[in-house]
Amino acid sequence: MTKQIFLLGYMGVGKSTAGKALASANDIAFYDLDAVIEKGEGASVRAIFKEYGELYFRKKEYDYLQKLIQIPEQKVVALGGGTPCYFNTMNELNDNKLIKTVYLKASVAFLTQRLWPERYQRPMISHLETESLLTEFIGKHIFDRNPFYLKAEHQLQVEGKSIRQIVTEIQNLT
Ligand code: S3P
Repeated sequence: MTKQIFLLGYMGVGKSTAGKALASANDIAFYDLDAVIEKGEGASVRAIFKEYGELYFRKKEYDYLQKLIQIPEQKVVALGGGTPCYFNTMNELNDNKLIKTVYLKASVAFLTQRLWPERYQRPMISHLETESLLTEFIGKHIFDRNPFYLKAEHQLQVEGKSIRQIVTEIQNLT
């Protein structure tokens, strides 16, 4: 029996919003990995990147993920956009019989619209000066990350769907 649902996918796809709604619909706990890291470290993801660099963040991200996996309760976890792409994370999640992994997908155009207004909060994209540079970046980045994202047990296209519909579709995944 699956007791833990892990949502992955690119920044801006709505992992946290869908995860929160899914957890509340099932009356189980919800964790947003970024928020867990921020609470544990007493600093924003942006500040951690700025002060210590990305590699340091990735190690912390992995450590907090391991702690989350070990909490023995039913839960939904929204991963960070890059979490699946470092260390042996996807294989470890997929080898864990209690965990179901779901890749939330959307088009580059949709993600650009979502991320452009929020780019300064997000260290991976804050340097991009035009919307078309952001589009180009996202396209390449997803191409690089897809080998990891596509290891998820399930894939779900979220574009044009309500949160309620996304929650129902995740609940219906076998
Ligand atoms: C990142 C995504 C972010 C956060 C960090 C790095 C990435 O999480 O972990 O800024 O590498 O894609 P969200 O996908 O929750 O925004």
